[in-house]
Amino acid sequence: MVEVTDYTAAGWTVPANPDERSRGYCARLEEGQILFFAGIPYELPAADRDLLIGVRQTSAAYHKNISYRPREDRIHGLDRASADADRLRAIMNAYSRNVTAFAADFLRPYAPGWKLDFASFRSIEERGRDLPLKQRNDLLHTDAFPTRPTNGNRILRVFTNLNPSEPRVWLTGEPFDVIAPRLASDAGLADHAAKARSSLRPISRLPGRVGSALGLPVPDRSPYDSFMLGFHDYLKANRAFQEAPGKSRWEFPPNSTWIVFTDSVPHAVLSGRLALEHTYIISEEDLVLPEKSPRHVLEKLAGTSLRN
Ligand code: SIN
Ligand code: FE
Repeated sequence: MVEVTDYTAAGWTVPANPDERSRGYCARLEEGQILFFAGIPYELPAADRDLLIGVRQTSAAYHKNISYRPREDRIHGLDRASADADRLRAIMNAYSRNVTAFAADFLRPYAPGWKLDFASFRSIEERGRDLPLKQRNDLLHTDAFPTRPTNGNRILRVFTNLNPSEPRVWLTGEPFDVIAPRLASDAGLADHAAKARSSLRPISRLPGRVGSALGLPVPDRSPYDSFMLGFHDYLKANRAFQEAPGKSRWEFPPNSTWIVFTDSVPHAVLSGRLALEHTYIISEEDLVLPEKSPRHVLEKLAGTSLRN
C-alpha cells in the first residue's frame, strides 16, 4: 500500500536531531510513501499565487503547461510571447528557490548531491484531456524522461495544488519493488539485460557527445533508462494493470503540498488544474534505502548491471 502521511500536524521541526529526522523522511519516500502537507511549507507570496491562478483567465498565451528550467532561468511552453513572461519567469525563479530551500532542509541527505531538474505550472484541467496514450497522465505509470536519462538516479517531485476550490485527484498503485517482480519480465527486462551484457553498444548507448559529434541529438541512455522508458509505456498500455483492484485514490486539497518518488510510485492524475511542481534528480549515492531503488530491484531480477 502506498501511504500518505501528514507532516503538518506532527510538525517536522519537533524531533531533536534534524539529520536523523530527515533520514526517516527519506526512508519513507524510498519505501514508496507520499509525504503530505496540508499547507504550503515554503514561502509563496500571495501576489505570486494570485498571478499564477489568474494567468489562465487573462491570457491565451498560457494555455499550455509552463515549464521552468532553474539552471538556465528560462520559461518554456508559452503559446506566444507575452508581456507577462518576465513576471512569470521571476515568479517561477522565486518558487524554485523557495521550494528548494525547504526541500533541502526537509530532506537533508539528498540536497548535497541532487540536480535541480525542471519546475512546472500545470494550468490545464486534467479531466478529459485528449492526449495520445503515452502522454496520458490519467493512466497509472512510473515516470521516465526520454530526453533526460538518469542512469539509476531517482526522480523526486514536489507538488502544490494552487486551486483555491478543487482538489487534485490522484490514483496510486503498489510501488516499484512490489510490481517489478511481477511485471518486469513481461515488459522486456531480458532484452535490456541482454543488450547490457553484449559488447555491442548501439547508437542509443553512445555517450551524448559522440551522438552530438555525429549531428544526432542522442541522449546517453543506459539499459536502465531504456527499460524505464519502456516500462512507462508498458504500464499505460496494460489494461489488466490499469484495471486491477488495489489502487488508492487521493484527493489533495487546495493549497496542499506532497512529495513523492514518481519513478517508483505508479501514479495517475484524474482531475485538477493549477498545480505547481518541482523535480529533483536524487543521486543514487544519497539514497538511504538503496535496495529499494528501481535500478537495484531490476539488476537483482536481471542478474546484470544496467548502468552505463
Ligand atoms: C504526472 O507526473 O503524471 C502528473 C501528475 C500531476 O500533474 O499531478
Ligand atoms: Fe507522471
